[in-house]
Amino acid sequence: MTQKFQNNDEEILIRPMREEDYDRIRELWQTIGGFGIRSIDDSREDIERFIRRNPDTSVVAQTPEGKVIGSILCGNDGRQGSLYHVCVAKPYRRRGIGTRLVSFCMQALQAEKINKVTLIAFAHNDGGNAFWKQIGWNRRSDCNYYEFVLNTENITHFIEADPAV
Ligand SMILES: CC(C)(COP(=O)(O)OP(=O)(O)OC[C@H]1O[C@@H](n2cnc3c(N)ncnc32)[C@H](O)[C@@H]1OP(=O)(O)O)[C@@H](O)C(=O)NCCC(=O)NCCS
Repeated sequence: MTQKFQNNDEEILIRPMREEDYDRIRELWQTIGGFGIRSIDDSREDIERFIRRNPDTSVVAQTPEGKVIGSILCGNDGRQGSLYHVCVAKPYRRRGIGTRLVSFCMQALQAEKINKVTLIAFAHNDGGNAFWKQIGWNRRSDCNYYEFVLNTENITHFIEADPAV
């Protein structure tokens, strides 16, 4: 599933996410304005647990120097796939990396006999919503999203957009 492609002068590697990627992924998330990072779900322990449960479906894009410049957490519950924290570092956007990362996840889910994949995009995320529309995803307007918080200690911290990045 690992792929390489030439991007400007750099060869970008797209490969499965591994537990040892945590620090570099976390560093990338800190640059993604608007991301909601959860104190428990996004901790090292829980991300490593997620990857152990879904060893082949999450993905990273990295530069030849080993810097992670894109990532997606992707898993399934045996029936449906889910994408979380889909992101590409700002200097690398609009070069097809996001599309390649999503394709990687969709193919990995298909290999596990999963027939549908979903994600949540905030309604105000114009760039994110334009991306999903452009790459052919269907926005459902005929259903409501429900949740029930099971652990109130799992606090969400929103990353502020850095105008310098
Ligand atoms: C959304 C995101 C992952 C897209 O990554 P990317 O590598 O730039 O995506 P691609 O280059 O593959 O984009 C494919 C197409 O989607 C559309 N698109 C992507 N970003 C867009 C934007 N900000 N505004 C409008 N259209 C956009 C374009 O049509 C683009 O093709 P083009 O560049 O040839 O016009 C990236 O912008 C990002 O990390 N955003 C912040 C985090 C985020 O919002 N994630 C999604 C949460 S639901």
